[in-house]
Amino acid sequence: VAMDSRHLLLRHGGNRWQVAARLGCRPQDLLDASASLVPFGPPASLSGSLGRALRTPAITAYPDRSHATLREALASHHQLPVEMLLPGNGAAELFTWAARDAAGVGVNVLPEPGFADYGRALACWGASATGWNAMPGAGLPIRHGEAGAGVAVSGQVLWICNPHNPTGQLWRRQLLLPLLQSFRLLICDEAFLPLVPGGEDCSLLPLVPHHPNLVVIRSLTKLLAVPGLRLGYAAAQPERLQRWSQWRDPWPMNGLAAAVAPVALADGRWRRRVQAWVATEGPWLRTQLAALEGLEPFPSAANFLLLRGAASLEPLREHLEQHERVLLRSCSSFKGLGARWLRVGLQDRAGNRRLLRAMRRSLRALSRG
Ligand SMILES: Cc1ncc(COP(=O)(O)O)c(C=O)c1O
Repeated sequence: VAMDSRHLLLRHGGNRWQVAARLGCRPQDLLDASASLVPFGPPASLSGSLGRALRTPAITAYPDRSHATLREALASHHQLPVEMLLPGNGAAELFTWAARDAAGVGVNVLPEPGFADYGRALACWGASATGWNAMPGAGLPIRHGEAGAGVAVSGQVLWICNPHNPTGQLWRRQLLLPLLQSFRLLICDEAFLPLVPGGEDCSLLPLVPHHPNLVVIRSLTKLLAVPGLRLGYAAAQPERLQRWSQWRDPWPMNGLAAAVAPVALADGRWRRRVQAWVATEGPWLRTQLAALEGLEPFPSAANFLLLRGAASLEPLREHLEQHERVLLRSCSSFKGLGARWLRVGLQDRAGNRRLLRAMRRSLRALSRG
């Protein structure tokens, strides 16, 4: 993987503050559908526990390096042994260590299009990487020379994302099982899975105790709408996680994040509310967008929709930003996509209506030239 400047300046949605400064408006005037975060978060349970944590040693003492309390909370939440869980400074930090293992195993096969951070993590260790076609509707890859349906790839380490960012494709656990036989290491990013109605049935977490070649990485960023808190965790065999612990710096997770994570995990009401929102708004917004001229939204299990345009959608995205204060995610940095594609993060119903009104106006303005 070549290290280039794009890795240093990861192109990402959710740059609301910078965009507001550029447009000369207030951040709260923007409708930010470029980042795929729950628009009505964070949950009150989290804000309350953050306040309380400030009155404990959460920031006045070094964090417990073993993260015993948090790991126990994760273990009981997922019904996994404590020693198979490792909290991290967001999923992104854990990709770095998964990538270090992966670099030693062989060639890495990355989804294209896919989250750019996998490539960043592998580039840290000079790992070699190739791509697998993860375009909407494409099947899962299979190892070259093996029987079965799917696009053949050569490589020893497979990276998957379930549901997939940016397509929203969700794979059932049963479909993923053969990958554990085919690849020497399978790294599965489940950052968006807690938002998906019925998503846990697709999770690979229950397989971790039985498959030493499986790493599952989860994040609470999307579910709780807290990208600034940095809360992720990995599930894998204990020896692997112990190795990672020796590589990382002594206190990669801040004390506040560690203190509030168990509270957030226990908030089942929040999870049900988020999943109900995805179940309602996803199909509704998709139907509405499909009615717009020249736009094709793909089916998605997640809280975002991928749109394909008949022609470049960059003029639409720019018009929405300039004239409507509505931000959508450009897909030009995703390999395999480009200017004809945009990603839209679901909003609440009022936000989705504003988004649709804005899109209709912008499309009309652009068609008048
Ligand atoms: C697919 C995917 N995985 C992981 C992450 C990063 O999560 P975290 O904030 O926990 O580092 C993102 C963030 O955009 C993502 O899109």
